[in-house]
Amino acid sequence: AESLRVNAVGHLEIGEVDTVHLAREYGTPLYVLDEEVFRANCRRYLCSLGPGNRAAYAGKALLTLAICRICQEEGLYLDVVSAGELYTAVKAGFPPERLYFHGNNKSLQEIEMGLELGVGRFVVDNFYELELLEERARALGKKPAILLRLTPGIEAHTHEYIRTGQLDSKFGFPLATGVAEEAVRRALSSPHLELVGLHCHIGSQILRLEPFQEAARVMVAFAASIRRKTGWVMEELDLGGGLGIRYTAEDDPPAIEDYVQAILRAVEEACQEEGLPLPRIVVEPGRSIVGPAGITLYTVGAIKEIPGVRTYVAVDGGMADNPRPALYQARYEAVLANRMLEPPAVEVAVAGKCCESGDILIPAIKLPRPQPGDILAVFATGAYNYSMSMNYNRLPRPAMVLVRGGEVDLIVARETLEDLISHDRVPERLWK
Ligand code: LLP
Repeated sequence: AESLRVNAVGHLEIGEVDTVHLAREYGTPLYVLDEEVFRANCRRYLCSLGPGNRAAYAGKALLTLAICRICQEEGLYLDVVSAGELYTAVKAGFPPERLYFHGNNKSLQEIEMGLELGVGRFVVDNFYELELLEERARALGKKPAILLRLTPGIEAHTHEYIRTGQLDSKFGFPLATGVAEEAVRRALSSPHLELVGLHCHIGSQILRLEPFQEAARVMVAFAASIRRKTGWVMEELDLGGGLGIRYTAEDDPPAIEDYVQAILRAVEEACQEEGLPLPRIVVEPGRSIVGPAGITLYTVGAIKEIPGVRTYVAVDGGMADNPRPALYQARYEAVLANRMLEPPAVEVAVAGKCCESGDILIPAIKLPRPQPGDILAVFATGAYNYSMSMNYNRLPRPAMVLVRGGEVDLIVARETLEDLISHDRVPERLWK
């Protein structure tokens, strides 16, 4: 990202803050979030979407109270998927009517919480939820606005996409089988639900535009067929998130502006063809807003050289704070933040500290010959790192700081050892 720089002493800077100073002051592992990059990405979405359309930041990528505040300031909506995310948003003062409430298995408590708070949209995933929501809405005297989540039968891969006749997914009403039509009919028949529109989400870290355009076309065609059959007019079309980002030099994602233009145009053309009025367009970007805004700082510890085989450079975090390499073979790039002026000298594997052979953050990377105490900065860790972090091996979760124009704010405190045992309970007899 453009906010990363190398300063006069050869240290990596982010948001005009020296990362080596950050590591010293706040400890490592440390998540560092560049506020300007985050805000710039929000604005890029809003500007290219234009008035009337909406961007709902997908909180699953990274949600904290401070993040909610920024999203609200920037004029975004928010996509939440659980009571926990809902609670975070509301505690941050985020207006409930600007919330999209997702989830493929919302509990009764979550549904009631959403109804009582008055969330703007329930994105209904299945018949069970439809019935539960209708029943609770009736009981509580509410009439929630809903979108139906459909699976449009499009499989988006990183480099290709194929159309599947029958979509095998745990999410949504399958469009192909007549199930989606049945869902629309049931929603329309309920006096306690207001069907506002349709939703789909075809995947994440998608690096091509065609699958998004295809999804838009399929959704509009479905809405047109429903209109012919029932007269219902789709007011809102939510196309989900999924735009990919650059993790390594091999990734070449479309720009936010090009992505938005592509889907707007696809919807416009399809609506024209089908004679449908233009719906309001909603997108739910997570990764493409926050991913590039984050880096993680680690301290190098043990270095194990296996002659002729490999050198393992262990850092003080790993799969507990970034499970993505272990889960998805996700690739990352990194540098020694305290030695930016030195050329790469050796190829090493960056290992985490968890008791798992699979805890390798980066299988092969060229760095200046690492020394214990060096600060390793891993790039593009803003999305799905902190939000997917865990306490495996009883590692405390790292702190997170927000940087901007040389200023630093702590937005997530580091977990303490005391935090780790705070939910443990010991039966009296075991203390004897
Ligand atoms: N909307 C819905 C309904 C979603 O399911 C998702 C992501 C998003 C929006 C946001 O997608 P994004 O713009 O961030 O791609 N843990 C995985 C990613 C899982 C994404 C799940 N859904 C990873 O670390 O790659």
